[in-house]
Amino acid sequence: MNTQTLNKINILLALLALGVIGYLGYQNYTLNQTRIALEIELENTKQDFVSTTEKLSGDIEAFRNLLITTQGEKVTAEQETRRQQELLDGMTNTLGLYQKLATTDRELLAKYSKVYFLNELYTPKLSITIPTSYTLEPEKEKMISAEVWPFLKQMLDDAQATSTDLKIISAFRSFDTQSTLKSAYKVTFGSGASTFSADQGYSEHQLGTTVDFTTTKLGTNNLTFEKTSGYKWLTENAYKYGFILSYPKGNAYYIFEPWHWRFVGKGLALRLHDEGKNFYDLSQRDINEYLLTIFQH
Ligand code: DAL
Ligand code: ZN
Repeated sequence: MNTQTLNKINILLALLALGVIGYLGYQNYTLNQTRIALEIELENTKQDFVSTTEKLSGDIEAFRNLLITTQGEKVTAEQETRRQQELLDGMTNTLGLYQKLATTDRELLAKYSKVYFLNELYTPKLSITIPTSYTLEPEKEKMISAEVWPFLKQMLDDAQATSTDLKIISAFRSFDTQSTLKSAYKVTFGSGASTFSADQGYSEHQLGTTVDFTTTKLGTNNLTFEKTSGYKWLTENAYKYGFILSYPKGNAYYIFEPWHWRFVGKGLALRLHDEGKNFYDLSQRDINEYLLTIFQH
């Protein structure tokens, strides 16, 4: 082997080493970003609980002070009773809020897509089978969260009342179902599958609060759903029932998905509509403000 060949091999090896170092660096960066996002979310969750607990402690302290001061003050019995009652009401409200916060499913308004991971074992608390008159393929059972169903049903009934053709083609998908679906897409589309299909654990469909629509006319091929009157009706009305379009044009995660609608509650959907914003534009902390009232009619 002459010197020139040796030099070439050396250059190739150096380039290869650089490539490996670059790849490892990128992997490390991605993992770091995910870790940071999770740490922020955990910190926000802690802060929510801490502030509620602090408020409760404050109320209890005020009540204790009142008991001490009223002993020394000349207040009428009526005034004293009223003040005590007001403080007790405040404490009861805070306690109720605290209990609700502790039992509310925080996943319902979490951002998923490519950033946040939903526990493998997560399934909706209670789900129901969607009546087949609302679905495209009656032979395939479609499930949805029981708490979301009244909102979805009302929306579809109202659309139907204006002769708008809308059918559900996909609803709750378990971790395993998403895994199978994604694997099948990968066989056909390779890495391109990730532009329109979430990995298992990252799909809003696992929440049981998200549905994909089509029309009777389009059937299972709903790629042109954007052009239907069903889509137009949803863009004008879905927010009134608490539904939002997760992946609008130009979103950072997937291709434009006009068929994919997620329930986030009427309060948040109305705010997003009024401010012309998308769900993924808001911070998780902002979004969490709507968690306690998500199922309010
Ligand atoms: N199509 C959306 C991104 C999903 O798979 O959840
Ligand atoms: Zn979808």
